[in-house]
Amino acid sequence: MRICVIGAGYVGLVSAACFAEMGNRVVCVERDGSRVARLARGEAPIYEPGLEALLKAHLASGQLSFSQHLATGIERAEIVFIAVGTPSGEDGSADLSHVLAVADELGERLQQACLVVDKSTVPVGTAERVAQRINARLGQRGKGFKVVVASNPEFLKEGSAIDDFMRPDRVLIGCDEPAGSELLRRLYAPFLRNHERLLCMSVRAAEFSKYAANAFLATKISFINEMAGLCARQGVDIEEVRRGIGSDKRIGTHFIYAGCGYGGSCFPKDVRALIRAAEQEGIEPGILRAVEARNALQKTLLFQALREHFSGHLHGRVVALWGLAFKPGTDDLREAPSLVLLDALLAAGVVVQACDPVATAAVAARYAPAVASAQLRLSESLYSVAEGADAVVLVTEWKQFRQPDFVRIRGSMRMPVLFDGRNIYDAKQLAQLGFLYRGIGRPALGQAREHAA
Ligand SMILES: NC(=O)c1ccc[n+]([C@@H]2O[C@H](COP(=O)([O-])OP(=O)(O)OC[C@H]3O[C@@H](n4cnc5c(N)ncnc54)[C@H](O)[C@@H]3O)[C@@H](O)[C@H]2O)c1
Repeated sequence: MRICVIGAGYVGLVSAACFAEMGNRVVCVERDGSRVARLARGEAPIYEPGLEALLKAHLASGQLSFSQHLATGIERAEIVFIAVGTPSGEDGSADLSHVLAVADELGERLQQACLVVDKSTVPVGTAERVAQRINARLGQRGKGFKVVVASNPEFLKEGSAIDDFMRPDRVLIGCDEPAGSELLRRLYAPFLRNHERLLCMSVRAAEFSKYAANAFLATKISFINEMAGLCARQGVDIEEVRRGIGSDKRIGTHFIYAGCGYGGSCFPKDVRALIRAAEQEGIEPGILRAVEARNALQKTLLFQALREHFSGHLHGRVVALWGLAFKPGTDDLREAPSLVLLDALLAAGVVVQACDPVATAAVAARYAPAVASAQLRLSESLYSVAEGADAVVLVTEWKQFRQPDFVRIRGSMRMPVLFDGRNIYDAKQLAQLGFLYRGIGRPALGQAREHAA
């Protein structure tokens, strides 16, 4: 099929590359010219495992190309995907300006009937608005056709996006016209050997389902984080409780890990957008408000723990941060818990030595003054940032942080203190090695023994 994907971000780029991999002819349209230039050279502008290899392969095969011009991208396209950003507006609702601008331009430039598909996460009723705007302009231009707009929300996870897209848990197709559903069913057939995972529904139900899914996952995280807070007070280790409840199939093992809060480009903004939608309908979204409030609190816990540990005397301390991206496997910093911690530490006069396998460049750009004054030192090595530190804080649980050489680390730190923001370490083992260990919702263990060297 001939496909156009508008927006070369995490979703647009992965979708375009994976559709090309299945033999479709894809043009990905991106308004940012420098991004298009990099993509045309086969360079991925974002970090996503496996993406660059797919881009290179399909640029070479001619199945995939990039353009800054919508008219080029939609020429003879049978399906046009809208995959531009829908950030939070000032009042928390989804800012649809990018989506609607694309709709207007499609109305101005389309020369043939095609199926338009919202892949961006958009509130209920958006497909109808997009269709109205496109078809009004087509009418003004005297075109004798109309487009149908479907919803196909995306469920990929950054860090495993290619795999998620190639082997989806399910594909949701919201379309009120059978011909549109059929076209999308054919497009996705190679991705779904088990067709029970293709779910067709009304446009509005598909739009709503994406928000409900993210809100539910965020709720699980905030629930376990609230339990963790109570565990810490009652001398219980939340990790034991997690195992104790996760084996119940009705609860499940996923998304019940206590930690320093969720971030990213989806959960925070989608929870906010759903809160706003409920308010607009006159419904009190009590659960969603609590989810958001708990998460905001959770992001402050590591700083509170450090302040308590140093009895309020943080100025001049050296703190090492392990992990900056909002989760492992991505360079995405949007709403990352690390940013809340970094802001608080820098404001308190702490010298921060931070590392991340892929996100340091973005952090350096964001914190240029602190980097220039050497209050923030960035590295890709967890060992170098631990050197001379009064405490290490694990913020993002990258695989390479899971089993470091703690004897070496203890020897290089000023004081062997470890704050585990994701509860990935064996507290007893660290205590035996001479660390003071503190997790989230776990009893503190061990005593920091100063290195005698
Ligand atoms: N990132 C995720 O993990 C994820 C997962 C599922 C769904 N989503 C949803 O998908 C949508 C896109 O998210 P993202 O993370 O890929 O966003 P992103 O910000 O990474 O990418 C959006 C891209 O669209 C481009 N763009 C904006 N307006 C344009 C226009 N008029 N023409 C061409 N390009 C334009 C931007 O320059 C940018 O490169 C959002 O609605 C998001 O909620 C994201």
